[in-house]
Amino acid sequence: MSDLDSLNTLEAEILGSIGAASDEAALEAVRVAALGKKGSVSEKMKTLGGMDPEQRRTVGPALNALRDRVAAAIAEKKAAIADAALEARLASEKLDVSLPVRESPLETGRIHPVSQVTDELVAIFSAMGFSVAEGPDIETDDLNFTKLNFPVGHPAREMHDTFFLPEKENGERLLLRTHTSPVQIRTMQSQEPPIRVICPGRTYRFDMDQTHTPMFHQVEGLVIDRDAHLGHLKWVLEEFLKTFFEVPSVELRFRPSFFPFTEPSMEVDVRCRKLPNEIRIGEGDDWLEILGCGMVHPNVLRNCGLDPDVWQGFAWGIGIDRIAMLKYGMPDLRDLFGADARWLAHYGFRPLDFPTLAGGLSS
Ligand code: DAH
Repeated sequence: MSDLDSLNTLEAEILGSIGAASDEAALEAVRVAALGKKGSVSEKMKTLGGMDPEQRRTVGPALNALRDRVAAAIAEKKAAIADAALEARLASEKLDVSLPVRESPLETGRIHPVSQVTDELVAIFSAMGFSVAEGPDIETDDLNFTKLNFPVGHPAREMHDTFFLPEKENGERLLLRTHTSPVQIRTMQSQEPPIRVICPGRTYRFDMDQTHTPMFHQVEGLVIDRDAHLGHLKWVLEEFLKTFFEVPSVELRFRPSFFPFTEPSMEVDVRCRKLPNEIRIGEGDDWLEILGCGMVHPNVLRNCGLDPDVWQGFAWGIGIDRIAMLKYGMPDLRDLFGADARWLAHYGFRPLDFPTLAGGLSS
């Protein structure tokens, strides 16, 4: 084969490999195999030195031209591969800007009204100098009843429809707390007075109808000081209810009642207007019972190691679910715990609209 024929064969081979290279790496391998230091074209270049001048004059320019054509073919193929890659990327990353934007969980998620109202209570009472105290849902009989001045065998215990846990070997019977009042005891046992706390949380009673669920929520309030009296209690409750219901004023009616842990004990009604599908607080000629309260019973103080001749205080308990229903117009208590996303979408609150006194509780 003549020199030029063998160059033609080499060029055809290299151009074939260039054509077959499907990506940048394969093309680079072809380039190195042809034009690299030990590539087939470079090896040919090295043979020029050993040729006689006549031969070199024909082979030299032919080889140079071959090298240039190969280099140009590689450059062209490289650009084609890059173009194809860009095309593929554009096709795969195509974005239809006319599609509707999907909302983030922060937009679609909703805060449950019970959580919202609990946050509202915390905002209101922390502005009045109260802190939040908590206790466990599973409670001892002693803290749920005995320390709260429910003597063993006293009929007031029966009013609570208690869920008891199976009796332990030592005869102790734990229970699901029937009210948040045991947190009063825990607080007085663990903190030095003066005390100002609210205790929101879950409570449990064996009861189920439109206005009762086996699990519900209460918030307890407790103030212990040397001179805390009923006038303070009345002011705290008025201030709280007015702020909570976001009305200019409320009128309260205190009726004598009975709770083992307070003396005197009172039930509180708030003035309202009862409309067919709505109850408006702070106006009208109707009364709605809303909470229980009283002065902490001396026995309860004593049970917590406080001297009733030095310390006195007041307490109250209120149903969170009930005031949530009243404020936000939810007719059936059971819906609050139905876990229906449609209900939550309707009655729930936006996650970032955190209630504050300055920014508005419910807006
Ligand atoms: N623990 C009571 C209940 O669940 C509510 C209550 C009434 C709490 C009067 C109090 C209070 O602290 O003073 O029925």
